[in-house]
Amino acid sequence: MSCDFIRPALPAVQRLSPYQPGKPEAELRRELGLAHIVKLASNENPLGCSPRATAAMQAALTDIARYPDGNGYALKHALASRFALSPDCITLGNGSNDVLELLGRAYLGPGRHAVFSEHAFAVYPLVVQAVGAEARVAPALATDSAMPYGHDLAAFHQRIDQDTRLVFIANPNNPTGTWLSSAQLEDFLAAVPPQTLVVIDEAYCEYAEKPDYASVAPWLSRWPNLVVLRTFSKAYGLAGLRVGYALSHPEVADILNRVRQPFNVNSLGLCAAEAALEDSEFLDVSCTVNRQGMAQLHAACERLGLRVLPSAANFLCIDLARPGVPIFERLLQHGVIVRPVAGYGLPNALRVTVGTEAENQHFITALTEVLAAA
Ligand SMILES: Cc1ncc(COP(=O)(O)O)c(C=O)c1O
Repeated sequence: MSCDFIRPALPAVQRLSPYQPGKPEAELRRELGLAHIVKLASNENPLGCSPRATAAMQAALTDIARYPDGNGYALKHALASRFALSPDCITLGNGSNDVLELLGRAYLGPGRHAVFSEHAFAVYPLVVQAVGAEARVAPALATDSAMPYGHDLAAFHQRIDQDTRLVFIANPNNPTGTWLSSAQLEDFLAAVPPQTLVVIDEAYCEYAEKPDYASVAPWLSRWPNLVVLRTFSKAYGLAGLRVGYALSHPEVADILNRVRQPFNVNSLGLCAAEAALEDSEFLDVSCTVNRQGMAQLHAACERLGLRVLPSAANFLCIDLARPGVPIFERLLQHGVIVRPVAGYGLPNALRVTVGTEAENQHFITALTEVLAAA
């Protein structure tokens, strides 16, 4: 009996290409049997997570037979006090990825559209396409601009109209690392129709130390159509637990709450995130290691004559001036996993997460050898 389970699927879903995650370390170990592998492919924190988060999870293990608190009371209250907002302004998600999907399900659909940039985070087109909405893609800034491949807000404006439901802006952006200044975002928000939700995805904001960068979270009372996305997956080192959140107008949070799964954040994630939030020391050390590692990688790229894109995040997008995939594959042979970004429209680039000093050095040595042999 011949079966076809593709064509009965929703047409928009049939057209989707699945998200390609970074190659897991265990997969490379299985394939090549290498003893030492360095994974710099998914922008995770190389230091792990706060010991307070680990202790909180260990304590919570005794209660694992129970469902989590479906309203995330304690974490929401901790976040509310951190941002001086009411808990009604907070939506918790199974990673910020979950919140992106909730936004798509609640605000998009056939006949509706969203605007985002070329070379932006890969989940934006997935979220838009999955619900049959139209993706309007703003071309990125030119390669010779001050912010090469960065978001071009004038191009966003050309694609936004009274019917635009969502705008996605990653700041800093993944995979480029480029960022928008608060002055640019302020002018942008002032000119967006008031009913268009502007989602500023600040997944990497803890790392962003550029003088013109600032989180827009303090602007929530000023712009009711602003949605700020944050995650515990990056600087807080909890990627495996999947906890992210949105800060928004309470009515947006109310709508998202109607479409989320009842227990979308698990018990360990809830208590670990709450504990991690309090550990500013761990966050400071993580940012210092990132700053030093960024300098180490920059210096190596300069020595190798490679151009890097400006980055305010915990990764660097390196322009190899030749196809990135073959170099990625050769780096795997050296036990180094980075991220090819051809799927993001950057075929000559590789994205490298900033690791510990030793991990960065392993990558630099491998890249030097691979390029010399290429
Ligand atoms: C810009 C951006 N937004 C959101 C996410 C999703 O993160 P998570 O679902 O782990 O919170 C990522 C992950 O890489 C990202 O790079």
